[in-house]
Amino acid sequence: MNNFINIFEMSPRDGLQNEKTFITTQNKIKFINDLSMCGFQKIETSSFVSPKWVPQLADAHEVFTKINKVKDVKYTALTPNERGFDNAVNAKVDEVAIFAAATETFSEKNINCNIETSLKRFIPIAKKALKEKIPVRGYISCVSHCPYEGQVNPQKVAKIAKHLIEMGCYEVSLGDTTGKGSTDVTSGVLEECLKVLTSDKLAGHFHDTYQNALNNIQLCLEKGIKTFDASVGGLGGCPYSPGAKGNVATEKVNKLLISLGYRTNLNSKKIDECSEMALKLKMGKNYD
Ligand code: HMG
Ligand code: MG
Repeated sequence: MNNFINIFEMSPRDGLQNEKTFITTQNKIKFINDLSMCGFQKIETSSFVSPKWVPQLADAHEVFTKINKVKDVKYTALTPNERGFDNAVNAKVDEVAIFAAATETFSEKNINCNIETSLKRFIPIAKKALKEKIPVRGYISCVSHCPYEGQVNPQKVAKIAKHLIEMGCYEVSLGDTTGKGSTDVTSGVLEECLKVLTSDKLAGHFHDTYQNALNNIQLCLEKGIKTFDASVGGLGGCPYSPGAKGNVATEKVNKLLISLGYRTNLNSKKIDECSEMALKLKMGKNYD
């Protein structure tokens, strides 16, 4: 039985992007170097977005070019437009991600355009990436609940997910941005998505604001989904989702998966050390 589950580490990107105080580039680099020792296959390292929108990640180029890259770890980044993609290629990013939303208001607040425009904007990124043999991942925010519009139509989520896969994304990560998705709501989202895509094309991205994440992950496992996004120490949140907390903590997901008999190939001790460091960085402390 192939019981391997992939935990995609998000903390340097989704974790740090929401921190108000600037975490120095040197601290970020040391943090990512430590995360590289945990056994993750992929680390979302930064974003090539507008520094006016996310000042915390304005140092993406320096971070990418100064980290000690470990063989077998892929260092990934968000790219909202062609400019971001070109900058990512220039910084030798291993994989990029394009990110859409399931509601118009969130899309406008997060990337300053409606859903249709965002999908059109992603086409040349996906084309360029495929030409350069750079894998592209897709995200959809607010799959269960929107901080501005409330309830979300799961059929709309499925339609966007299919669109992103058709564009060339190898996988779509379903984002419960607010963390308000109960298992009932998530179940409806998965049902619609699995009508149009197979489970190997989907990943779970749960923010743990209301402690729904672990139950949702178990539900996804039952549906055959094998990739979950998480952040050490539960770091993070989206700056354009007021009040939303971080991704589900990597250490919690790892423990759950092991207890259920899955393999993650991660070093729990090193993850715990990174989790402690993440919380120190959050409190404004530095590496010694
Ligand atoms: P815009 O204001 O419409 O774009 O923003 P623009 O083209 O008018 O550019 C505005 C300024 O940004 C200009 O600078 C551009 O040059 C610059 P100015 O001329 O005013 O000095 N600019 C850039 N600079 C560097 N790199 C770039 C870039 N593009 C423009 N790539 C834009 C549109 C998409 C750029 C903006 O809205 C943006 O950067 N948004 C990113 C927001 C973001 O990163 N949000 C968090 C990540 S998503 C998330 O957390 C959800 C997720 O975790 C899943 C979940 O939990 O739901 C993935
Ligand atoms: Mg997120």
